[in-house]
Amino acid sequence: MRKIKDLRPIKVEKGVLYVLDQLKLPAESVWVELSTYQQVAQAIKNMVIRGAPLIGIVGAYGFAVGVKQIIREGKNLSEAEAVLETLKNTRPTAVNLFWALNRMWKKFEKAVSENKTPEEIEKLLFKEASRIEMEDYHANKSIGGYGQVLLPEKANVLTHCNTGALATSGWGTALGVIRSAYEEGKEITVYVDETRPYLQGSRLTAWELSYEGIPHYIITDSSAGFLMKKGLINAVIVGADRITRNGDVANKIGTYSLSVLAKEHNIPFYVAAPTSTFDLETKSGEFIPIEERSEEEIKKCGGCSVAPDSSPALNYSFDITPASNITAIITEKGIISHVDSEHIEKFLKYRGV
Ligand code: MRU
Repeated sequence: MRKIKDLRPIKVEKGVLYVLDQLKLPAESVWVELSTYQQVAQAIKNMVIRGAPLIGIVGAYGFAVGVKQIIREGKNLSEAEAVLETLKNTRPTAVNLFWALNRMWKKFEKAVSENKTPEEIEKLLFKEASRIEMEDYHANKSIGGYGQVLLPEKANVLTHCNTGALATSGWGTALGVIRSAYEEGKEITVYVDETRPYLQGSRLTAWELSYEGIPHYIITDSSAGFLMKKGLINAVIVGADRITRNGDVANKIGTYSLSVLAKEHNIPFYVAAPTSTFDLETKSGEFIPIEERSEEEIKKCGGCSVAPDSSPALNYSFDITPASNITAIITEKGIISHVDSEHIEKFLKYRGV
């Protein structure tokens, strides 16, 4: 078995939260301290950290940091509601943020109702955030184990955005499957969409693959169809920011186009995500809030103008891939190979989710 190096995007040292600044990668690896919940909220909004599972984990730590602040400043614990709202109002699409914050809020409410001391509450909240982080890591390893079986011995896999260690607690979801397949000894070549405009693919995924020594090529987002037509791709694997009850998937803008291309070329299209990414309260993709980011992200690259100032730009950050374009969803509990409401409901129910 090949050895995969451990890569983690956050650390907590002596009760202080640090994150690896993803705006600076791959040029520099800089750890930033986030000592207030306002700093945590800004880091999520500005994409210093990003990726659905990591947004949830950092959001959870952010809540613990916020409650610690309230306690240290001698304020009333009822202020925790404002902390929760600030963190919720950072990025709208990834459901993992709301899932993790709801879990933290329940823990907080229970501790308050049990008359725990402020110090006990603070401790409990950091512990819960750390549990969310650890659970995510184990889920990723499990997704990798299930998913790698789906990849052929000689796999030419196309992936979009960054779904690796940097988007999670470590290992990754879609990129975790690739890591696991490589670890198993499969002959893998990864085609990495550069993923305009934030360049999660060329800056982050390629950085992770280089770090591990996994063979890969960065490609422009518009190359996918041509490569598929040439027979260079035999699987597409992506992550998810939210999966609705009927199996529609919100993921990085460009994912939908890839799914259409994969269907046209008879190439399997896999989505890898932990069960915390399912949003069963939302019926289908059209109801998912899609984040729109600033025009500047498109019109500037590395601080340089790449478009006329006078031209407006549209920057939808995510799109929706219909369930009918998805071959299978790989979760930590197993694989959903018929992606529709009925099979999703049964799968989650029988696995106790
Ligand atoms: O805008 P981002 O970088 O947060 O978007 C990330 C993605 O779209 C990922 O594919 C998704 O969050 C899954 S990460 C395991």
